[in-house]
Amino acid sequence: MAEPILQVSGLVKHYPLTTGILFKKQVGAVKAVDGVDFELEQGETLGIVGESGCGKSTVAKMLVNLEKPTAGSIKYKGEDITTLSGKALRTVRRNIQMVFQDPYTSLNPRMTVGDIIGEPYDIHPEVAPKGDRRRKVQELLDVVGLNPEYINRYPHQFSGGQRQRIGIARGLALRPEIIVADEPVSALDVSIQAQVINLLDRLQNDFDLSYIFIAHDLSIVRHISDRVGVMYLGRIVEIGKDAEIYDHPTHPYTQALLSAVPLPDPEARENRERIILAGDVPSPTNIPSGCRFRTRCWKAQDRCVHEVPLLAVPPHLRLLEGPQAHDSACHFAEEKQVVPAEEPE
Ligand SMILES: Nc1ncnc2c1ncn2[C@@H]1O[C@H](COP(=O)(O)OP(=O)(O)OP(=O)(O)O)[C@@H](O)[C@H]1O
Ligand code: SF4
Ligand SMILES: [Mg+2]
Repeated sequence: MAEPILQVSGLVKHYPLTTGILFKKQVGAVKAVDGVDFELEQGETLGIVGESGCGKSTVAKMLVNLEKPTAGSIKYKGEDITTLSGKALRTVRRNIQMVFQDPYTSLNPRMTVGDIIGEPYDIHPEVAPKGDRRRKVQELLDVVGLNPEYINRYPHQFSGGQRQRIGIARGLALRPEIIVADEPVSALDVSIQAQVINLLDRLQNDFDLSYIFIAHDLSIVRHISDRVGVMYLGRIVEIGKDAEIYDHPTHPYTQALLSAVPLPDPEARENRERIILAGDVPSPTNIPSGCRFRTRCWKAQDRCVHEVPLLAVPPHLRLLEGPQAHDSACHFAEEKQVVPAEEPE
């Protein structure tokens, strides 16, 4: 098998908590990301889901070098990019681009659409020399389904969905290989979400892109992801192929999340069991010992307090070799079908 385009291992981001004004003293840390591992194959889409505050955006920012990891490595085509600097770093950054969540605040209101989309060329003039920029930007507008004549308009003259298309065009400007999309449709109306997801799908084929697609809701990533990773309190707790996670989840947290996704079919809705989790998500400054999910898990036992479950295929599922045998960080992982399986298309 070919080498993954991205390999993330032991990725950590801790923000220090300090007291004192003149003499700062560290009294703890916000463990925003606390040991994340995953791989991204060339051309695939990895969905990352989890509740608000579990560390999704922090992972995304480290991938595009907007944040420096506290520990761990991010290998792009086999090379650790967390230690690069200068020209080597700029080349890598060009190949890994981000699309942001909120198309209302992520576009500068005082810049024209042409300047917004063409801004990355200031840092990478080798991709589009000055005389060629206008044409390149118009091409990009066309690619994302906007009229190239809109090049001199301002962001407020566009709808939310159109603004996200502008954000995507900007992400594509440097012809990257990887796009990290941080909740790219969460701020949009449901009716517009599908259009933007279809656009991302088409662009993936046209430009041979690999995607990290972040969402807080499992239902959004279902149709675009080849694999899905579920995050809880700074870690991935379950990861696998899309059907493994949706139809054969083995981690109690994934099962709880799935029990809450909206289902269009009233009969399926009726037959599905809702799993209501006890309590709130613990603070990332004070992560529970053992299994970090244990304070909300209905299956928690003594072992869960003392022993950290590793993200791997659980030994008791390994022999089964079926779709339930995928990575799940739970001592008592077992399959539970929460949502009635979809009919094969
Ligand atoms: N610069 C920072 N300093 C201190 N804490 C931070 C910083 N940035 C993020 N955090 C904290 O780290 C944790 C993870 O934040 P992050 O934004 O990555 O979560 P998220 O999963 O993207 O959430 P959301 O779904 O709300 O976007 C949160 O508790 C957040 O408050
Ligand atoms: S290890 Fe224990 S607490 Fe953690 S998810 Fe599994 S059963 Fe629940
Ligand atoms: Mg976020």
